[in-house]
Amino acid sequence: MRIVVTGGAGFIGSHLVERLVWRGHDLVVLDNLVTGKEDNLQKVINEIDFIEGDIRDDELVKRLLKGADVVAHLAALTSVSESMEEPYLYHEINTSGTLRLLQLSVESGVKNFLFVSSCAVYGDPTKIPIKETDPISPLSIYAATKASAEAYCQAYNSMGIRTCVLRLFNVYGPRQGFSQYSGVISQFTERTRKGQPPIIFGDGKQTRDFAYVGDVATLMATAVEKFSEGVFNVGSGKSSTIKGLAETLARTMGKPDLQPVYEEPRPGEVRYSRADISRARKVFGFRPEVSLEEGLRLTVR
Ligand SMILES: NC(=O)c1ccc[n+]([C@@H]2O[C@H](COP(=O)([O-])OP(=O)(O)OC[C@H]3O[C@@H](n4cnc5c(N)ncnc54)[C@H](O)[C@@H]3O)[C@@H](O)[C@H]2O)c1
Repeated sequence: MRIVVTGGAGFIGSHLVERLVWRGHDLVVLDNLVTGKEDNLQKVINEIDFIEGDIRDDELVKRLLKGADVVAHLAALTSVSESMEEPYLYHEINTSGTLRLLQLSVESGVKNFLFVSSCAVYGDPTKIPIKETDPISPLSIYAATKASAEAYCQAYNSMGIRTCVLRLFNVYGPRQGFSQYSGVISQFTERTRKGQPPIIFGDGKQTRDFAYVGDVATLMATAVEKFSEGVFNVGSGKSSTIKGLAETLARTMGKPDLQPVYEEPRPGEVRYSRADISRARKVFGFRPEVSLEEGLRLTVR
């Protein structure tokens, strides 16, 4: 199959691109490298068409979509806190960018469109584990841009293209970038590496569903191949407390005595999270294999 992956030089995208290449597909990767790195693709760079460019460049996108069977759309700005400071930019890239890609995909005769969304669309869940049929309730601009892009995917299902939405939970693993906006595992790893205590906001008893990037990318590659319309949760199906995460990471990094410091909880933070992944298991045979301890070991290495 000929597959166009947007955001393919990013953390998750690069793992997906590798798997699709190893499965024998023709890959076109579009990424403007705002957070991604060409280096993330070094294992497969000679086997793909890598294009440095922006998903908002309609002429470029039209050219790349010619003859494509599937679009896997991961390109996005991904920071919740930054989205509150830059709402228009987040809307332009995450929501309008997805709409443009959907429209150009239809015009180009692409049959299948996979959109990578986020568990952030659920907001503070009313029950655990979270099912795809549970209500969505975005609490941030980032979550709102993903929810509205999902709505466009749903609308386009009746316009000649099949769309599949994957709601990713907290993905971690090798190549995850580190910045002030990074997720909790990058933050903790960086501080623990420097011998600084990880900072926990709140009491540390809040839970998250951490999914190893290798498991997530394998599921995504299968979803691209098997394709099925609908919305699917993608997580580990297990939850860990943030305090437990800090302890496991400290042990893994050989600093078991490093105690976290606690700060005021951040407003709008979700208390509990865990994905019900039975739909992805049934349709795509999704079975996450890497435990949190093993995944942290691989990440630290
Ligand atoms: N990491 C997670 O835990 C997580 C959780 C839920 C959803 N997601 C989603 O998964 C996808 C990949 O996220 P990631 O964690 O790999 O982040 P990432 O920042 O590493 O990947 C995003 C990629 O998109 C590219 N990009 C951004 N704007 C672009 C534009 N205008 N044109 C072309 N390329 C552009 C970036 O350069 C980057 O390579 C995103 O859609 C994100 O919202 C990630």
